[in-house]
Amino acid sequence: MSVLEVLRWPDPVLTQTCAPVEAITPEIETLAQDMLETMYAAPGRGLAAPQVGVLQRIFVMDIGWKEGKPDPLVCINPMLQEVGEDRADGEEGCLSIPGVTAMVNRPTQVQMVWTGLTGARYVQSFEGFGAVCAQHELDHLDGVVTFDHLDADTRAALIAEYTAL
Ligand code: NI
Repeated sequence: MSVLEVLRWPDPVLTQTCAPVEAITPEIETLAQDMLETMYAAPGRGLAAPQVGVLQRIFVMDIGWKEGKPDPLVCINPMLQEVGEDRADGEEGCLSIPGVTAMVNRPTQVQMVWTGLTGARYVQSFEGFGAVCAQHELDHLDGVVTFDHLDADTRAALIAEYTAL
């Protein structure tokens, strides 16, 4: 396994829409393991393939490992199946936008379906930070980052802060 380079915004790769994973090949298995290692090394709780330069629909997340409750998920071709009506603001960081956080408004509860590395299909409900993380990583697969959720003035101010770092 190896730690991969994480691309930083405004790398144009981060604005691309990713293609579905057609088959779980040894290359996909290696990519997933490397992405987990990269995420833990960062350290972060989620990492999407475009952040390491791969334009395929796969992300990894582990929302509990920093609290000693590891639960690594490899999510291939993930999709939201249900989205709750309640929404909330939350501070979100991103390994591709180090040093700043953005206040993003999102649904607080989602149900996501995905394929795991074994080919098994998973359906799981997420709330709280898990819902935020899943939606944040899904965004990356469609070329969307936290900045893209902000109004024009807030976005410009935060980009100025980020650029000045
Ligand atoms: Ni991110």
